[in-house]
Amino acid sequence: MSTTFHRVLAARLFAGVALLGGLLTLTGCERGAPFERPPVDSVQSGYRGTGMTQVYNPRILEPQIEKNQPPAALPPAPSEGPKASQVYQNVKVLGHLSTAEFVRHMTAITAWVAPNEGCTYCHNPANFAEDSKYTKVVARRMIQMTQHINVDWQQHVSNTGVTCYTCHRGQPVPSKIWFTAPPQEKRADFIGTKNGQNTPDMDSVKGASLPYDHYTEYFKEAKPIRVAGDTALPTGNRSSIQQGEFTYGLMMHMSDSLGVNCTYCHNTRSFASWAESPPQRTTAWYGIRMVRDLNLAYMEDLTDVFPQDRKGPLGDVAKVNCATCHQGAYKPLYGAKMAKDHPELTTLVQVVAGAGAGGGAGDAKALAATAAAVAGGGAGSGGKATGK
Ligand code: HEC
Ligand code: HEC
Ligand code: HEC
Ligand code: HEC
Repeated sequence: MSTTFHRVLAARLFAGVALLGGLLTLTGCERGAPFERPPVDSVQSGYRGTGMTQVYNPRILEPQIEKNQPPAALPPAPSEGPKASQVYQNVKVLGHLSTAEFVRHMTAITAWVAPNEGCTYCHNPANFAEDSKYTKVVARRMIQMTQHINVDWQQHVSNTGVTCYTCHRGQPVPSKIWFTAPPQEKRADFIGTKNGQNTPDMDSVKGASLPYDHYTEYFKEAKPIRVAGDTALPTGNRSSIQQGEFTYGLMMHMSDSLGVNCTYCHNTRSFASWAESPPQRTTAWYGIRMVRDLNLAYMEDLTDVFPQDRKGPLGDVAKVNCATCHQGAYKPLYGAKMAKDHPELTTLVQVVAGAGAGGGAGDAKALAATAAAVAGGGAGSGGKATGK
């Protein structure tokens, strides 16, 4: 009797421990995992009956909102007095600022990008003018990239705009970046190529068994993002299953980066139909083109500048995706307008070669690169957001 009793007790205890363990796993998984314990909130985001609803988990949202508060703006600096180009020796992008505005800018980027490292992260303290550190060369190009985003990609960033902080958040290397994944090894046995699938990646496809390197297909190359045919009969739809899988991989990344459901941008009655999609889908369409432009015209362009230990397994530079700016929010920093306090980042001033004391051959090259990048952006954004 007592042995039976003990056996039952042991079994109950075991079940209890297992249940407790299970519960702990569930709650432990809450942050970013597919299992989320109720209750969750939902908000209707489309016409009634279309099932267009955003589901929020308040326990995930709360710390997320705290994490996405912008830092306080520095007090504005006077624009009078001598220009940076007259006082300093090697300014190629911000020479039009007053020296006070220039120093304010340096203070701001230090806080946004290298708060622990300080000015010397980019400068040789013995000579602030020299370009001996790669970080300074990268930073100059980043200033131009930020201006380009704010001026030429308003179809995406509107007047909210971005600053270095949008991506960097107080770190030299932004937390969300990507590299091209090495191709899968082909083996001599019967295992076919996985095509980058069934290796659940939390960052790129939120743990789904979809191809995880859709980044290269869409944020570097311009492969068609298509699944559906536009005729009733299966005639003429050339989209392959593979293309469909890559498309869904990208969609997982976009939803995850923004912390939203598919129905933030689609009416699931027809994923392809633009007429039934909310305006956010058009913003996202421009976002895809913007990301591609930034990666090609700015990041890839810096390949020779970055040291080897900053590059990916194939030797490519770190690149931008939706999460680099959004970091889980439908608008980066939940729409905080940081850029308005930094007009030097929301205007493109064409520095004439030779205008500054340090003006030289480098200026002409930087100018040409900027002009080419602007032309590329224009072509990308000139297209019409149709389903074709
Ligand atoms: C993230 C990199 C970065 C950090 C950190 C940084 N700077 Fe700079 N600094 C630059 C870049 C890029 C330029 C050139 C800007 C241009 O070409 O218009 C520059 C130029 C300068 C110049 C002009 C030098 C000359 O004679 O040409 C001074 C002065 C300067 N910075 C001071 C500072 C100070 C002071 C700090 C710290 C508060 C600082 N910088 C932090 C990137 C940085
Ligand atoms: C759209 C996102 C984005 C914005 C905006 C942005 N950066 Fe970057 N930045 C990146 C990425 C991606 C890298 C590559 C990461 C790496 O260094 O491996 C990078 C790298 C850098 C580096 C090199 C750091 C290192 O240690 O290798 C510096 C310095 C830098 N950025 C400065 C700036 C400054 C200054 C601004 C604002 C004027 C700025 N960035 C704006 C995305 C951004
Ligand atoms: C932030 C907005 C956004 C979110 C969220 C989003 N999509 Fe998309 N989706 C788009 C855009 C934009 C396109 C068109 C891309 C293009 O043509 O360049 C698209 C295209 C598609 C297509 C291809 C339609 C066709 O023409 O064949 C499918 C299918 C799709 N999305 C499914 C999904 C699914 C499933 C989810 C959720 C996992 C999702 N989307 C989440 C914006 C979004
Ligand atoms: C350079 C930073 C940056 C990158 C990269 C970026 N975005 Fe954005 N995005 C923004 C900013 C800033 C806004 C806010 C614009 C506004 O206030 O209307 C925004 C707004 C949006 C919106 C509108 C949200 C709403 O409710 O109105 C969508 C949708 C969106 N982004 C999707 C994407 C997608 C998808 C990607 C990747 C393909 C992407 N973004 C990449 C900066 C970025």
